Amino acid sequence: MRARGLEMASKDCVKVAVRVRPFNKRERDAGSRCIISMTSNNISIQDPRNPQNSRAFTFDYTYWSHSGFSRNKDGLFVPEETGGRYADQASVFLDLGQGILDNALQGYNATLLAYGQTGSGKSYSMVGYGPNKGLIPTLCERLFQSIRSMQDSRQCQVFFSMLEIYNEQVVDLLSKTSRSVSGLRVREDQQRGFYVEGLRRVPCDSAVQVEQLMDQGTRTRTTAATHMNANSSRSHMLIIIQLKQIFSKECITKQSNIYLVDLAGSERQRSSGSEADRLKEGTAINLSLTTLGNVISALADMTLGKKVVHIPYRDSVLTKLLQSALGGNSRTVMIATLSPADICYEESLSTLRYAERAKRIQNKAVVNESPTERLVKELKAENAKLLLRLSRMGQEGRKADDETKELRRLLTHNELQIRAIQTLWEQHLQEALKDWETQYATITQERRMMQMHPYIMNINEDAQLSGVVKLFIQEGEWDIGLADNSPRSLCIRGLGIQEKHAVFSNQQRRVSIAPVSGSKVIVNGVQISKRIELQHLDRLVLGSNSTYLFIGFPSERSGEDWSRYDYDYFQSELAAAEGFHIQSLCDNQGHRPHQPDPSLLAVFYDYIKLMPMVTEANQMSTELKKGVEFKLEIKNLAMSDSKGHDLEKDIAVRVTSVESKQVWMWSKAKFVNRKFLMEEVYQQQVVGGEGADRAPLPRDRDPFWDPLETLHLGSAHLWLQSLAFRIPLEEQVEVVGPEGTEEAILQAQLVPCSPTGLPLGEDDILIDPSELLGKRLDFQLVLDQCCGLRWVKEARNRGVQIGFQVFDCPQPLYTPAVWHNVNPLLDHRVQFSALRTSQELLNYLQSNALVLELWGLQEGCSELVSCMDGVKMTQEDSIIIDKISASEHLAAESGVSDLSSSLRALHQDLEQLRNANAALKKENSALREQLNSARNGVENNRGRQERRGSLRPSCDAEFAKALKVFYHSMTSVRGQLQRLRRHKPSEEADLLGLRLFVDEHTYLLKDFSEQLEQCVTTLKQDVAAIVRRKREKSGIWS
Ligand SMILES: Nc1ncnc2c1ncn2[C@@H]1O[C@H](COP(=O)(O)OP(=O)(O)OP(=O)(O)O)[C@@H](O)[C@H]1O
Ligand SMILES: [Mg+2]
Repeated sequence: MRARGLEMASKDCVKVAVRVRPFNKRERDAGSRCIISMTSNNISIQDPRNPQNSRAFTFDYTYWSHSGFSRNKDGLFVPEETGGRYADQASVFLDLGQGILDNALQGYNATLLAYGQTGSGKSYSMVGYGPNKGLIPTLCERLFQSIRSMQDSRQCQVFFSMLEIYNEQVVDLLSKTSRSVSGLRVREDQQRGFYVEGLRRVPCDSAVQVEQLMDQGTRTRTTAATHMNANSSRSHMLIIIQLKQIFSKECITKQSNIYLVDLAGSERQRSSGSEADRLKEGTAINLSLTTLGNVISALADMTLGKKVVHIPYRDSVLTKLLQSALGGNSRTVMIATLSPADICYEESLSTLRYAERAKRIQNKAVVNESPTERLVKELKAENAKLLLRLSRMGQEGRKADDETKELRRLLTHNELQIRAIQTLWEQHLQEALKDWETQYATITQERRMMQMHPYIMNINEDAQLSGVVKLFIQEGEWDIGLADNSPRSLCIRGLGIQEKHAVFSNQQRRVSIAPVSGSKVIVNGVQISKRIELQHLDRLVLGSNSTYLFIGFPSERSGEDWSRYDYDYFQSELAAAEGFHIQSLCDNQGHRPHQPDPSLLAVFYDYIKLMPMVTEANQMSTELKKGVEFKLEIKNLAMSDSKGHDLEKDIAVRVTSVESKQVWMWSKAKFVNRKFLMEEVYQQQVVGGEGADRAPLPRDRDPFWDPLETLHLGSAHLWLQSLAFRIPLEEQVEVVGPEGTEEAILQAQLVPCSPTGLPLGEDDILIDPSELLGKRLDFQLVLDQCCGLRWVKEARNRGVQIGFQVFDCPQPLYTPAVWHNVNPLLDHRVQFSALRTSQELLNYLQSNALVLELWGLQEGCSELVSCMDGVKMTQEDSIIIDKISASEHLAAESGVSDLSSSLRALHQDLEQLRNANAALKKENSALREQLNSARNGVENNRGRQERRGSLRPSCDAEFAKALKVFYHSMTSVRGQLQRLRRHKPSEEADLLGLRLFVDEHTYLLKDFSEQLEQCVTTLKQDVAAIVRRKREKSGIWS
């Protein structure tokens, strides 16, 4: 297509609109807060973790579709009050849709893109749901209205195409023939630019016809999604409407392409692209979206005057097709959709940033004219000339027969060509209409069946694709599965579906389902092994993850809202059946169920999102004979940091080789990435059929395989407080795994010592830790033995190492590896020295624990090595810690903040008080000595005894000893508390089990309180005894 004169080109910035949707069920359940606010064209987003921190943006249009609406009798969402701020579908159309339409009618290319995270409302805005029609259907309706109202002045031709880009493959959603494995090709033409070769263009002349085509496209998309075991939210959907307007009188033809694009969920771009993975290169899933981002950034930079060498249009299919929409010949609008909820903050902020960049793009739109139409114009002009010549010839009466004949032949030829061009369109239209009529008959038939029979309908992760497939269960028996060789079989595709998977029976107005042996059928979250009767709105999962809702007989349907049985509902139900529900997660953490912690909720939703993907990965592993199993785990569920605070929870996937028992832990992002690559391999090797690539993959390209790594098994806490008193500590600490399991028991010691490593005695125990300030502190960490290693019990060819990081030591240190032993001796001793103990170190000792990380080794993986870069040692080979002394630290910060200066003042006060205290102590002891010597004069015998008494340990030493006893008993109390926290009833516990659990719990609790009581009583008694003795000594009671 050629532009009519560059003089008409004008610079148009991409117009950007932002729309925020209502809370969805998930967000409402979570008690989410709305963090988006809008005033006129400004929008601001608040950081839920730091409410003072909010970011403001300005766009061409903003739409508040979050609140202030109601559903009217026709099911439309409209503003609650007239003039309310709620932006309904009609008002969004008025700004954006009408603009696109006006531009197209003027002969400009126009593009409308929807961008946003999954579930943010892209499809709602573009396509719509039910009566709430989105921009595309309304635009088509208005387009045909306009065409009709203008039919006197022009003849219009509309061609409709619909395609999907998934994994860089183009799928024609309107194609009548079956999809080719590699999809359609994108080609480049000098005149047309990039185009999809062989894409079906359906001539249309009514909005109903377009709607029907869209339904057909959605149906293809749904089946394509199940064939590919793919998640539709990862694909981009493009609708291309070509509008040709022929102004016969003016001999002008205007042609415009309207691109309507519903992009894949934007979060995928981050979740699978951000983390380092050995196989990252192979990931094409987000190539289109990532490249779109790169193109937008490059174009935005260009507008800002930055030097841009290259705009990477050619890097992806999507950007090739959108080349004219971005920076080219098109009037372009982007609608960025947002979730209002606090849990989506990161994604929403990234969407807003993306949108802000997009609004800087400058296009150069021109009115288009096609060469074919110019030909008509030229032919018509030529005909006019020929006619003139003929008539002149007649007038002149010259009988030039040959010339006249030739002229007439030319004329007829030209007229035929003109007519051919016009009739071609009519023919196309007739064919399309015929096609459409057959389609329409099928749909009418389906509607009739729905009114007569029970059926199952598909539920898809993408709400747009739910309810598209309906399988009717008429009277009698019906096989369901891959096979479609009998008239009484219902054919479905999907992972884990067998040739004959299950049998439905509809007899005496009762419907039941029976699984065929070896196939997986889940009804309402529970796997069934024998025939069961189905009730209206039962949830069915067939195979790995083919989800269907059962709709009973028409008499059983009472107009209830089925929309609550969405994909999330199915997955939550499955998770609950596995004992994983939001309450359990919250209870575990001591949160009240009504106020779940947003980070826990995020974990919960990640869990239910990944759960079906894990099932599918397992199925692919089985079918491809990969011999690995995938299992979801919650990282850090029972873990805490060195201060004892809970660590942020996250989802991880444990991968186990069934045969060799080798284990890998994959992050969520890595798993999502790998799952996609697995689909690709599966697609090539299993679904591809004849000619598919069945050669085994080399290991380095196998998404199921990874080189072995050390595995983090769990951690134990060794509290450092005793070191502040220079009291030695010897403990048996429990190494707790991410989900709270006991991984091992570790015998460890903290031994205060002299610089040369000699253990300090009881007389060195401090009562006031602040006495350490500015003084040297040496201590040894001794790791004696590890007992009951679960990791090695599971497979003897494994080993372990312990890692730890002390205070400001720059690197973690590791013990040497110990292999093949469940109770290995470690006998590892490291000495640390603080040359001048700072306040920071003292605070650290008093409030932190040394976290001892247990690392699992497997045969063939490399061991962890302590890196000594930046580590300083004393002459005695002790590691120096606390390198910045308190005074230096304060000096560095002095004058910087008021806080540090007031802290310094406090320190000075403290120092003065300490000095005063020391002086008073001195005076006191001097007085006591005087008193004693005075007494000595009277009672010599008693005096001798007193002196002997002073050989007994001092009161301070006794006090320190009492403290030591107290610390030791507190350690076991703390252990008891941890056991109590982890003590939970078993998931299958019945009433009796629960009663037993309660009894046991009560016992543990009693034990705990007794231990605690005893601990405190002993301390009280010891202290009382010391005080008594002290008073006796100072003679107060004598
Ligand atoms: N403005 C809105 N008003 C009412 N409901 C909405 C609105 N926007 C979205 N929804 C609802 O939110 C759900 C998700 O929306 P939608 O399917 O449009 O998301 P999406 O962005 O297309 O997601 P995906 O990337 O997965 O395709 C749907 O059930 C839809 O009805
Ligand atoms: Mg969508």
